[in-house]
Amino acid sequence: GNQVTLRTLDQMKQEQTKIAMVTAYDYPSAKLAEAGGADLLLVGDSLGMVVLGYDSTVRVTLDEMLHHTKAVVRGATRPLVVTDLPFLTAHLSREEALKAAGRLLQEGGAQAVKVEGCNGVLENIRACVEAGIPVMGHIGLTPQSVHQLGGYRIQGKDADSARRLMEEAKRLEEAGIFALVLECVPEEVAERITGGLTIPTIGIGAGRACDGQVLVYHDLLQYGSDLKPRFVKAYARTGEEAVRGISRYVQEVREGMFPGEEHTFHLHASVVDRLYG
Ligand code: KIV
Ligand code: NA
Repeated sequence: GNQVTLRTLDQMKQEQTKIAMVTAYDYPSAKLAEAGGADLLLVGDSLGMVVLGYDSTVRVTLDEMLHHTKAVVRGATRPLVVTDLPFLTAHLSREEALKAAGRLLQEGGAQAVKVEGCNGVLENIRACVEAGIPVMGHIGLTPQSVHQLGGYRIQGKDADSARRLMEEAKRLEEAGIFALVLECVPEEVAERITGGLTIPTIGIGAGRACDGQVLVYHDLLQYGSDLKPRFVKAYARTGEEAVRGISRYVQEVREGMFPGEEHTFHLHASVVDRLYG
């Protein structure tokens, strides 16, 4: 199919075609996600946790995001590639925020960036959009604020915080974002936000009314991630399959069953004669 663009996403929202987004962190995951038909690839800073083993996304650096973005871009043709601006970046000066976002596009090859939050980043989001850098928003549970939120928990459960989320969504749309991730919010709140915006919403733990969904690659494939919060559905048991494969290999090495004749190179008989004959 054709390369997914911002226009494609607008059309999908208008036609009520659901948008499927998945994270990808390297060349093979990008290729497999594209083969599976994903419309959007997110080089999420969740890579810090599921790929690099950090205890939160706060540790992830711009250089790490660049490194992984380059690999994803080499593996993806059709999907639109969005990369997370890492912790703090969007809160720095306009110049620094623009520079970081610009590097993700210019050096990394991403087509858009994602920014967590609203207050404190609106001006820089506007500056990016003005500079031609498409920005995806992200509100609700914003993992870069985990230390302030006091853990990974549902947001927008009471009337005040629900109203605040709806206002943030509106202000972000006005600032020019092309899509909005809603993470861990009640379905009713996500539905109201989705109905009130012209840009598509992409939900994770946000119920069924969003214009699209996103899941973390390692969660949906159960690949080295034991984490299974309520909003994750496991579509494959990749980790179990990997461990099965590796333990068969280990066993065959120990038993001298691998490598077999079919994996082995030989000298030609005439060379054997000249060498040892
Ligand atoms: O980093 C990430 O994977 C994300 C998604 C879960 C939305 O931000
Ligand atoms: Na993220």
